[in-house]
Amino acid sequence: MKLFLDSAQLAEVKAIADLGLCDGVTTNPTLMAQTGMSLRHLVQEITSLIPGPVSVEVLATEAQEMLKEAEEISKLANNVVVKLPLTPAGLKVCKTLTGRGIKTNVTLCFSSAQALLAARAGATYVSPFLGRLDDVGASGVDLIKEIKALYSMHNLETKILAASIRHPRHVVDSALAGADVATLPAKIFHQLYDHPLTENGLAKFVADSKKAGLSIGEKAPT
Ligand code: E4P
Repeated sequence: MKLFLDSAQLAEVKAIADLGLCDGVTTNPTLMAQTGMSLRHLVQEITSLIPGPVSVEVLATEAQEMLKEAEEISKLANNVVVKLPLTPAGLKVCKTLTGRGIKTNVTLCFSSAQALLAARAGATYVSPFLGRLDDVGASGVDLIKEIKALYSMHNLETKILAASIRHPRHVVDSALAGADVATLPAKIFHQLYDHPLTENGLAKFVADSKKAGLSIGEKAPT
């Protein structure tokens, strides 16, 4: 399963890019609005920091205007993916863009029926929102499992992008459920490697090696 960063904060994108483990980025209008920067400038910066797919969402809700925005977004960088809402207008525009070979991410998916429509429209990615489903007492992970079963059974090529991830367990469960990608806020990216036993274990290794005067490439201290 690939790991994307869910952020529009350049400092976060730089830090996660530096880890060398980030396969792509997803943004949304809320994340963009929090930066106070122009969308165009942000997209240019993010797409130059991360060579993988960078999802950028349209702002319009009506098909004609949405298509115009999608065309503009798709020209911003070679690795841009146009993000569209799972609405009739979004699906219609998705189908048009697919016909032109433009990559798409159909977002705000909360049911398997919606995911089937996204695949039917030729979406490159569909984004089921785990955390927001869990918030209303449903199971985001169960949704991923069901979409995976449907897509496998019918040989649908749309990739499942687990979104609205709230904790490291969501990442593991998404992988087990067959998601192709999980997109995580920077905080959760860091939580994936953080473990107190790793920190304590390393502190002891460092202390013991210093006490004994160990160094790489030299003979053992007597
Ligand atoms: C995904 O593409 C969305 O940007 C994101 O995962 C939404 O997450 P939230 O529910 O934490 O806002």
